[in-house]
Amino acid sequence: MEKSAIYPGSFDPITNGHEDIIRRGASLFPRIVVAVLENPRKETLFSSAERIEIIREIFKDAPGIEVKAFHGLLVDFRILIRGLRAVSDFEYEFQMALMNRNLCEDVETLFMMPSAKYAFLSSSLVKEVFRLGGSVEGLVHPLVERRLREKFRKR
Ligand SMILES: Nc1ncnc2c1ncn2[C@@H]1O[C@H](COP(=O)(O)OP(=O)(O)O)[C@@H](O)[C@H]1O
Ligand SMILES: [Mg+2]
Repeated sequence: MEKSAIYPGSFDPITNGHEDIIRRGASLFPRIVVAVLENPRKETLFSSAERIEIIREIFKDAPGIEVKAFHGLLVDFRILIRGLRAVSDFEYEFQMALMNRNLCEDVETLFMMPSAKYAFLSSSLVKEVFRLGGSVEGLVHPLVERRLREKFRKR
């Protein structure tokens, strides 16, 4: 049996939908590695160091949840967790899962559905709502809300 699973993503920033998937994953595996994608070609609001620091803080009391930088290589992991929201995620995720299997024969992608209340939640939506001055309460951790406020104040 596998003891660890990797949950890769951009997490720019982490939302309650991501948190929901991480907690569900942590109920199945003794160790979940949240892998924060560092992609120099993708423009993000938060740097990878900031995204890592935020997620670490949120899960500081959860011993089975680790946060690491991810450069795209799935070394040492057999189980990859991805979240599936609306139908719109399916096509891309299906493609990615088969591509990953192509690259690495024994990687299995495990899809998990969030609680229905997060089924339409995305990091981009959170950033958009925040930019327009709307409330993101209940969509992200209070720490994320604070970081968003600081980020936009500096701009
Ligand atoms: N609200 C949500 N509920 C469930 N899964 C989600 C939610 N938002 C994102 N995810 C999933 O979390 C993973 C990481 O998402 P994201 O941070 O957007 O990174 P990526 O750039 O890999 O899409 C993906 O599998 C995505 O489908
Ligand atoms: Mg995404």
